[in-house]
Amino acid sequence: MSGVSSRSTAAPRSAGSVLCRLAVSDAELEAHYRLRLTVFVEEQSLFAESDVDGHDAQPRTLHALGFIGGEPCGAVRVYPLEPGAIEWKGDRLAVLADYRAHHLGAELVRFAVTTARLLGGQRMIAHVQLPNVAFFERLGWQVQAPPAPFHGVVHQLMSIALTASASP
Ligand SMILES: CC(C)(COP(=O)(O)OP(=O)(O)OC[C@H]1O[C@@H](n2cnc3c(N)ncnc32)[C@H](O)[C@@H]1OP(=O)(O)O)[C@@H](O)C(=O)NCCC(=O)NCCS
Repeated sequence: MSGVSSRSTAAPRSAGSVLCRLAVSDAELEAHYRLRLTVFVEEQSLFAESDVDGHDAQPRTLHALGFIGGEPCGAVRVYPLEPGAIEWKGDRLAVLADYRAHHLGAELVRFAVTTARLLGGQRMIAHVQLPNVAFFERLGWQVQAPPAPFHGVVHQLMSIALTASASP
């Protein structure tokens, strides 16, 4: 990923052995993509061959990694939806199956929210898979619209205000 090291405004988040931060090298960006491939292509079959899309090539898109005990085992992607960077989107939230239930997913969501807020965002949206709606609600997100198909699977549009109180 070009320019990753210049994105130092997104502070790492850590809780115990869990750490979330931006990918800071080509090798870490590759790890980010591998994690997404494992979860969204191989595990969920949400995409046939690759989940990489045009947002990944955009310079303002941020690619994050989550670590447990130093091992990269989670990923999330965030990007502004328009030039003013008021509204952001978070997607590709993934934790490897063997590493779930260790609070990495929640930390990745908090990291994405904090990152967008620090970069001037006022609202973040996400298309959430229905089994994960309660997970996002626990993190302060709200349902925005009736569920609708997204990538061929019914998702729930959710959002969160990027205020200090909404970004624990
Ligand atoms: C969804 C996902 C990211 C959650 O990651 P995780 O690391 O297992 O979640 P966490 O351990 O941070 O969960 C935090 C809390 O939410 C709970 N939780 C986790 N998934 C949940 C769900 N789907 N619904 C309700 N609660 C959930 C956990 O039990 C935990 O509760 P606790 O604080 O009482 O211990 C992970 O299951 C995953 O990668 N799934 C496959 C890909 C996917 O669905 N991505 C999201 C697309 S919208």
